[in-house]
Amino acid sequence: MAVLHVTDRDGRNHTLEGAEGWRVMEILRDHGVGVEGICGGACDCATCHVIVAPDWAGRLHPAREDELLKLDELPAIEATSRLSCQILWEEALDGLTLTLAEVN
Ligand code: FES
Repeated sequence: MAVLHVTDRDGRNHTLEGAEGWRVMEILRDHGVGVEGICGGACDCATCHVIVAPDWAGRLHPAREDELLKLDELPAIEATSRLSCQILWEEALDGLTLTLAEVN
């Protein structure tokens, strides 16, 4: 079972089971850890903003232009900020570690 480690906005840690082919946003949303995903993954709301652990950031596919543009609109981002709706879950991501960003 491939899992995802998440720290929520209250500092609580969760280990969630991944689902092949799902967006990471969908996994976070459906486990009720505090991600709304209002736009449904259309890269338009940024409610799925997460900060990826530095050792994982380079192992993900690079952000596309539309993701980078949306991140640029946020008042505060980190070097490893991503929109979790743009990360597709696959077994190779077993152990992916991230923190939910504050809602802007
Ligand atoms: S769910 Fe809206 S930008 Fe990711």
